[in-house]
Amino acid sequence: MPKPSSQFVCQSCGTVHGKWAGRCDACGQWNALVEEAISHNAGSSNSRHKKGRGMELVDLTATSIDPPRMVSGVKEFDRVTGGGLVTGSALLVGGDPGIGKSTLLLQITGKLAEQGRKAVYISGEESTGQVQRRARRLGLADNPVALAAETSLGAVLDGLKANKPDVVIIDSIQTLWTDQLGAAPGTVAQVRACAQELTRFAKRTGACVILVGHVTKDGQIAGPRVVEHMVDAVLYFEGEKSHQFRILRAHKNRFGPTNEIGVFEMGEDGLAEVPNPSSLFLNERGDASSGSSVFAGLEGTRPVLTEIQALVAPAAFGTPRRAVVGWDSGRLAMVLAVLEARCGISFAGKDVYLNVAGGFRINEPAADLAVAAAIASSVFDIALPHDAVVFGEISLSGDVRPVTRSEERMKEARKLGFGRAITAFLKGKNSQALSQILPIIRIKTLPDLISRVETSANGSGASDSHEETAWAA
Ligand code: TYD
Ligand code: MG
Repeated sequence: MPKPSSQFVCQSCGTVHGKWAGRCDACGQWNALVEEAISHNAGSSNSRHKKGRGMELVDLTATSIDPPRMVSGVKEFDRVTGGGLVTGSALLVGGDPGIGKSTLLLQITGKLAEQGRKAVYISGEESTGQVQRRARRLGLADNPVALAAETSLGAVLDGLKANKPDVVIIDSIQTLWTDQLGAAPGTVAQVRACAQELTRFAKRTGACVILVGHVTKDGQIAGPRVVEHMVDAVLYFEGEKSHQFRILRAHKNRFGPTNEIGVFEMGEDGLAEVPNPSSLFLNERGDASSGSSVFAGLEGTRPVLTEIQALVAPAAFGTPRRAVVGWDSGRLAMVLAVLEARCGISFAGKDVYLNVAGGFRINEPAADLAVAAAIASSVFDIALPHDAVVFGEISLSGDVRPVTRSEERMKEARKLGFGRAITAFLKGKNSQALSQILPIIRIKTLPDLISRVETSANGSGASDSHEETAWAA
């Protein structure tokens, strides 16, 4: 029987099928199968391996030295990579089109080239002229970055072998193609094959290869996530187009922590570092108003203060709306359910809107209490103390739980001029030390928080003394 000359590959999950079907059996995706030519010599590299040379086994101790790193000097970038780019590693930088990936990486390569590293920037999307114009605008035109506009993997690899670079940017992996495969550029098979070759190149030569990948609407890189497990680190560049700042977040990192973020601001002449994000996120905060609280959060090693806004209003139509920007909607549903069940606040027939100001995204459960406080503040239409930060996790029973690293959160709050912290009831020595940093308003349970908000709301007018009794430490 002759060998088949083509196969059908699901563009969503990568499963290979023998014949075409409307729906992928493996992942259930419709219209995702694409015909690809089978390369019958694909396995030949295996057969080339010489007999008698097995694999080599080494001790764990043999690799205990830290890998050498290239520090760019852009602190926000270096922190996310875990202290600089590791030689011989491959990174994927993903993000929406137009978010600033090319700008960021051109700036990073510029910095590395300035230090005498051999940097190569390969653009498959823009002409060399376009990249040069951008470099001039970013003030990098004099930096010795080698530039190429190329989309053929073979040409790229040949060029790199001749040049022996320290760092290579491939902008983007979706534009690269190899003639070893019949598939069109941008398909799973092409992206996978090109990423594999480039990763191998990185390991073999000790260069650091950075692949740029566009994210589709549903948050996946190149449609499938085929590249994510091949590379050593996956960084996402995210942000709202309507806001100036951009966040670089480590999604996976074999050489460092994954919860770090780097904050940048997009301006006229490229991306600028934001060393103190809290002041950026809070600087639009107005006077004390109801439905707002300040959450003392943590992003990796760094405390970040953000404003949480809530609005509870009568629903205009039949089904009440729950709209969330910057937080998890499931988590909001939980906080609302606990408020209903434990505190008797009804949200039936009410719209609830929740917004993290400035377009920031919070992932910590420690924000529960700040969210509940903002919602309660909106329900009773009374402002929370303007100089207080809020943090704590809420359990389904309505208890407020202490969260990790309270000290750092409170120190950051004090640095930014806050006067007190609304948080869980803490016991022992630790709480003594913490109240040295900021006076603590201890909240044992959610009903405790609600009764304080209620007390301050029922006071005649906005008398300060009433607020003082409601929010006594
Ligand atoms: P770009 O890096 O091309 O995005 P990506 O590679 O992720 O697709 O960034 C494009 C956007 O950035 C574009 O909308 C213009 C804006 N921008 C600035 O605001 N200032 C600048 O100095 C540069 C270079 C770009
Ligand atoms: Mg780009």
